[in-house]
Amino acid sequence: MKVGIGADHGGYELKLKIVEYLKSAGFEYEDVGTNSKESCDYNEFAKTVAEGVASGKYDRGILICGTGIGTNIQANKVKGVRGALVHDMFSAKATRLHNDSNVLSMGGRIIGDELAKAITEIWLTTEFSGDERHKRRVSKLES
Ligand code: RB5
Repeated sequence: MKVGIGADHGGYELKLKIVEYLKSAGFEYEDVGTNSKESCDYNEFAKTVAEGVASGKYDRGILICGTGIGTNIQANKVKGVRGALVHDMFSAKATRLHNDSNVLSMGGRIIGDELAKAITEIWLTTEFSGDERHKRRVSKLES
């Protein structure tokens, strides 16, 4: 599985931790930036990752900004992206099982490193349930 990951300055430090996790867990990934704590706009990083997921360049995307909200809104403007803003482990699992989410957003100013790593692991390793009712609802998201 190839993962695209991006962040703004508010998510930069947490992105480093998540990249460390991706490496140690053996995921293939591409880090699209940002590469410092200098203030920048989350939009371009979110678009790059979301468009990469929509085009099939990445299987999944991970976005981190201060709250996770801006990146999540931006990612969900790309057709084919199902972005989920997640700050707890239950939602990480539920959004994969029920929504087949393909982009995960988290807030670097909201959660700690260990919780973010646990969320990432659950989200990357949980398959979509494939239940008919969830398939139907997910397909309606596109119309
Ligand atoms: C940057 O200050 C902050 O607004 C951004 O990281 C994010 O939280 C936006 O939703």
